[in-house]
Amino acid sequence: MPHWAAVIMAAGKGTRMKSKLPKVMHTLAGKPMLQHVLDCVRSVEIPRSMVVLGHGREQIEATLDDRTEVVVQEEQCGTGHAIMQAIPHCHEVDHIIVLSGDQPLIRPETLRNLIRIHIEHNAAATLLTACFENPHGLGRILKEGDQFLRVVEEKDATPEERLVQEINTGTYCFNVAKLREALKNITPKNAQGEYYLTDVFAVFHAQGEVIRTYCTEDVHEALGINSRAQLAAAEDVARQRILSYWMEEGVTIIDPRSTFIEAEVVLQPDVVLQPFTILKGRTQVAEDAVIGPHTTLTDCTVGAGSEVSHTVGNQAVIGGHCTIGPYAYLRPGTVLQDKVKVGDFVEIKNSQIGEGSKIPHLSYVGDSQVGKSVNIGAGTITCNYDGVNKYKTIIRDKAFLGSNTNLVAPVEIGEGSVTGAGSTISKNVPANTLAIERSTQKHIENWVRNKKK
Ligand code: UD1
Ligand code: CA
Repeated sequence: MPHWAAVIMAAGKGTRMKSKLPKVMHTLAGKPMLQHVLDCVRSVEIPRSMVVLGHGREQIEATLDDRTEVVVQEEQCGTGHAIMQAIPHCHEVDHIIVLSGDQPLIRPETLRNLIRIHIEHNAAATLLTACFENPHGLGRILKEGDQFLRVVEEKDATPEERLVQEINTGTYCFNVAKLREALKNITPKNAQGEYYLTDVFAVFHAQGEVIRTYCTEDVHEALGINSRAQLAAAEDVARQRILSYWMEEGVTIIDPRSTFIEAEVVLQPDVVLQPFTILKGRTQVAEDAVIGPHTTLTDCTVGAGSEVSHTVGNQAVIGGHCTIGPYAYLRPGTVLQDKVKVGDFVEIKNSQIGEGSKIPHLSYVGDSQVGKSVNIGAGTITCNYDGVNKYKTIIRDKAFLGSNTNLVAPVEIGEGSVTGAGSTISKNVPANTLAIERSTQKHIENWVRNKKK
């Protein structure tokens, strides 16, 4: 088995993005472009991945895991120069696959095909190409009949050469020993004064080495992202791919046009996504759950058979067969056991809610531990914050809180206890007790008539 490594070029500045964020850190479907490329490489089981970094190196490096090797290119003197920096790190590597960090739509099956052709023909280099109706700005593939000759950059091409529609995508396989030698022969004598990696093909050709091309039908794979408009176009492609994937996996998506699913989301078969649903981060949804309409979940877990509508959730865990919304706001640290009901205009933060408990309307529950089969009346507020510190509220199993109860934390409501509507509870309530805190209602007779006189 020959040894393979991937080299991902990502040292360029990305001037046209006009951003303080390095270009390859901009996201598609919630995942940085560079990570899309790294994940693609990993899914074809290439054992090593090197990333060539220059501009914004620290910022990018901080996001990489320790399986990714960093090669530094201090000055960006062209793609040939970028690969020259990586070559010394390629000991015991027979072939490299070269990719660009700003081409996030590359697919694993394409890399597999490229590698297969490279190996089958024992090629010095194999290029991934694509045919573009408008190939402006890209390197053209020059051939004589079927025979590959070389790549010419747009800026160095003659008007006839610019008519060629087959372009160099910038993804290649190379035999490392042959590439190492060929790189010694390239110079920056061209329109851009750079070391072009693409100049090695003319060197190989002159030496009679085997060079193959593989033309992908999916032109999106060749899209290099240089501007925000191209980023948006690529986002659309990534989004359609993800939607198609989950529909293929048995998820019902009522309106794909208004549904957004980020790259790391995991869905089970028979999940139903209603219109205007946005699933972000590492959100996971189990079978038969119905999400939406108008719901945004970020890093949430939803159990089987739950219904979540018109809700915003962030780092919340929702058990099975829960009913959430409309208009619920679940904040980080919310953990709902099975069969919990959270109704309209309810906000929950950093709280565990036991099985079968109900918070049907207009409540704030923060820093609380709520037992099983608890009923929290409309308008109940946990007063968890005194302006300096946050305190905990404990509500034991089967407690029943009257409407408009204020729970001044730290406070505990015993098992099976009841609070009177409108009570402000600041002392612990023992089990099976009614706690009522409000002044006795007074009646002033004939008050209305006297006033009118
Ligand atoms: C390159 C190809 C061109 C191809 C196109 C496809 C060359 C000379 N040309 O052109 O044939 O059609 O890609 O998109 O290779 N980079 C570095 N260090 C450098 C220069 C670039 O790491 O010194 C990185 C960039 O960050 C980028 C990638 O290499 O990720 C490609 O560089 P870029 O300048 O965009 O090449 P193109 O001019 O687009
Ligand atoms: Ca480019």
